[in-house]
Amino acid sequence: MQEKLLGRKLTACIRTFGCQMNARDSEKLLGILEEIGYVETESENADFVLYNTCTVRENANLKVYGRLGYLKKCKEANPQMLIALCGCMMQEAGVVEKIKKSYRFVDIIFGTHNIFKLAELLYRHLTEGGMTADIWEDTSQIVEELPVERKYPFKSGVNIMFGCNNFCSYCIVPYVRGRERSRKPEDIIAEVQKLAADGVSEIMLLGQNVNSYGKTLEEPVTFAQLLCRIEQEVPDIRRIRFMTSHPKDLSDELIAVMKDSKKICRQLHLPLQSGSSRILRLMNRRYDKESYLKLVDKIRTAMPDIALSTDIIVGFPGETEADFQDTLDVIRKVRFDSAFTFIYSKRTGTPAAAMEDQVPKSVVKDRFDRLLQEVQAISTEICAAGAGRVEEVLVEEVNTQEEGYVTGRLSGNAIVHFPGGPELIGTFVKVRLTEAKGFYYLGEIAF
Ligand code: 5AD
Ligand code: SF4
Repeated sequence: MQEKLLGRKLTACIRTFGCQMNARDSEKLLGILEEIGYVETESENADFVLYNTCTVRENANLKVYGRLGYLKKCKEANPQMLIALCGCMMQEAGVVEKIKKSYRFVDIIFGTHNIFKLAELLYRHLTEGGMTADIWEDTSQIVEELPVERKYPFKSGVNIMFGCNNFCSYCIVPYVRGRERSRKPEDIIAEVQKLAADGVSEIMLLGQNVNSYGKTLEEPVTFAQLLCRIEQEVPDIRRIRFMTSHPKDLSDELIAVMKDSKKICRQLHLPLQSGSSRILRLMNRRYDKESYLKLVDKIRTAMPDIALSTDIIVGFPGETEADFQDTLDVIRKVRFDSAFTFIYSKRTGTPAAAMEDQVPKSVVKDRFDRLLQEVQAISTEICAAGAGRVEEVLVEEVNTQEEGYVTGRLSGNAIVHFPGGPELIGTFVKVRLTEAKGFYYLGEIAF
């Protein structure tokens, strides 16, 4: 109807904040919008703008509130525009009330458990008017077969489980993503087969803690067994990645399967969070410094060429300089290929938010700077050691910085830019890494 009045297709823009889970949800949300007639646009000056939000750190929330101010102006210039919010931040206590009170121009709000209802909520809004809000507290449901509009034709995320039961004391995820639920292996394999038939050659299996996959299924399956089945049953998939792996449940079975696999990438994301056993206990991580180091040793003995990445939080309540030195010690011992570093952010409702001894901002900032320096120095050295090697690369995109160059990804997840044209996108090529640039490489096709 509106389409006829405007004489053009309606446009939709989805902005994704946060992690790979959200990115995958956004692909499903776009799939639904395209099914009902929208065309995607990059511009937020669209007929339908959807923010898929994150709330893992307070900054993520502040970013959304900031951008809503900008959207309000767009809507004043174009009153037809519809604004929708979804994702983790909407599941957080008090957020929807705040939006209802201070951001009246938002049209539709939903959460993490009911993304499949987007078309219905849109219809309800258009017929009933007002602000349409539908947030589910939790769900035991897994909705299969949603339409999906993938960002890349040759690689895709695949959810294998939803939610988290770990309740790390700083983390809001278990409260906004609900209890852990695993998809059935048959459903996952059917999805991967469909993706492969559609030209996908690399998949990323997604879950908050993939190592506990399958434990709650009627017929329990381990994550390692799932990996074997995917590897054997879907020949056209050439690369398998996964994240995130909680160190407390990484099994010997998984290490053995990775070691023997031709397809599982030589990459493991193994969040450390802190190197201090005392802080790890307060974080409710259920491993300590020694067991983490032992685990890394075991992994490296089985796969000496594996690239390890991690997440680290500085400034957790009660963290002393000695605790921080333990973190630096682990970093120096493990020598991560890359590390994502975060300043502790107090999330209301989590146990850590109520802990005494919150570390002063200036102390945290100083530790953060020292941590970053250490992490970057090590990454640069590791990257330099890789120069000269020839590696198989999946070409992902045309390089926007350097004309005539494309960008590809190694098995270990590092990026390389090398001369080549758009016809290479989605293909595997052998590339010589000619120059290390700190955290990426320059290269050339190896003949
Ligand atoms: N403050 C800072 N970082 C956090 N993370 C999760 N919760 C918080 C928080 N409250 C980090 C962890 C996790 C990553 C996804 O985000 O390091 O592994
Ligand atoms: Fe958060 Fe811990 Fe669950 Fe990861 S494992 S999502 S850090 S509670």
